[in-house]
Amino acid sequence: MPTADGGREHQAALPPQVSGAWPLLGHAPQFLHDQRRLMERGHAEHGEVFRMRLGRRPAVVLLGPELARWAFKETDHSLLIGPSLAFTIELFGPDLYYLAEPQEYQRQRETVLPLFRGTMAAAHLTIMERRCAEFTSRLGDEGTFDLPREMNDLVLGVIMEALLGADFAGQMPPTVTSDFRSFIRGVDPITPAWVPAPHLLRARRARDRLRAAVGELIRARRRNPVDPPDFFQALASARGSDGELITETRVVQLAMSLVFAGHDSTTGHLAWTVIDVLQHPDELAKILAEQRDVLAGRAALDLAAVHRLACLDRALRETMRLHPVAPVLLRRAMRPIELRGHVIPEGADVYLAPILSHRLPGLFDDPASYHPDRYLAHPELAGYLHGFGGGSHRCLGEHFAGMLGQVTLTRLFQQFDLALVDPRPAPVRTPAFKGPRSPCRIRYRRKNNLTGPAD
Ligand code: HEM
Repeated sequence: MPTADGGREHQAALPPQVSGAWPLLGHAPQFLHDQRRLMERGHAEHGEVFRMRLGRRPAVVLLGPELARWAFKETDHSLLIGPSLAFTIELFGPDLYYLAEPQEYQRQRETVLPLFRGTMAAAHLTIMERRCAEFTSRLGDEGTFDLPREMNDLVLGVIMEALLGADFAGQMPPTVTSDFRSFIRGVDPITPAWVPAPHLLRARRARDRLRAAVGELIRARRRNPVDPPDFFQALASARGSDGELITETRVVQLAMSLVFAGHDSTTGHLAWTVIDVLQHPDELAKILAEQRDVLAGRAALDLAAVHRLACLDRALRETMRLHPVAPVLLRRAMRPIELRGHVIPEGADVYLAPILSHRLPGLFDDPASYHPDRYLAHPELAGYLHGFGGGSHRCLGEHFAGMLGQVTLTRLFQQFDLALVDPRPAPVRTPAFKGPRSPCRIRYRRKNNLTGPAD
């Protein structure tokens, strides 16, 4: 791109390309197989800005917290989310919230943001505690369970009840759960939408059934609002800036996209945290000691107690550093951008990569080791993480997911002795959220002291 430079014009170059591209396929096989190793090579060869060959568009990787902050600030200006996630539009429909043009995004944000402002937290905590209690009592006294599968069921149950309402979670046929799973599996950046692949066809059929079910619920809630309003009532009764109720189609879209955004992400994060803690008995011991202190004499968790579980919170954060379930975040460059002496051409895909940025040796001591107390000594390290995104598009469900993590892990560690049966869990192969892959079995035995944390 020609740029003015002291009266002279010069040609800024594309970022350098990481080595190892295959003929025709470029870096796609390596990107799908092991993103982190590819990024490590790019970083070793070229530093924080480099290019991969993935399809026809230039694919530029930006590493480290400084460039991540820059990209979050540029989102909805020179960078957009929507075009980079065009493959999801087929499933969700056009103009959906974070996929929409900046102006439309802002309009919908006014509807969605208030729903996440804390007032529902106590009600959500009650749902989480009850669903967790149902889960742990279903386990019985001893046995093994598949961690990703059980977390998946638990999280989906909580999210459906918390976001769509007890009536939805209670009255819908059991197929609704499998429909949500099929719908989520249809979010596939690799298979073109025109390919009649079975998982895409299943996803569209499931989406149509879910749309009908959620639509019915909206009409029922608008006829007979629940009072005080729960999350779904607040969404169904929300009005746009023109004072009109937002359309039923929009409510359906928003509700389904929230379930999508929250389900596999939270499932993966919880499951990785259980694995990390079980692989580090010293950390488990600290978490149990904290439980004894915080939960002494309490049967139920309340918000104040949840906020005091700081050691568990650091464990969740450290897992997010090492196993970010959204390993890369995508943007599309809407105009040529000069950055650190390179040019990102218009139309390029821009990748932020928590999967490597969270492990950069210049930022984190002994970056590959699991060490939750690093945030005690250096609280500023938390600001280098972007597993929940950043800027105006930062994850809206971060606190919800954090609270569900606190409740689930507290109850599991409190009530059971747990051990990993499969010692080296690997991430799922699907390109969406990267939780651990099944089977990842946990052996469990109920502790004798059922009412309080045991030694
Ligand atoms: C551990 C669990 C979760 C992780 C790791 C996670 C991660 C993320 C990330 C990285 C983004 C930003 C994407 C980007 O900038 O491209 C994001 C956005 C978002 N997340 Fe989450 N998320 C989690 C749970 C949830 C939950 C439970 C919900 C809903 C209840 C949710 C709702 C959203 C929404 C609505 C956005 C879009 C925000 C916007 O664009 O304004 N997330 N999430």
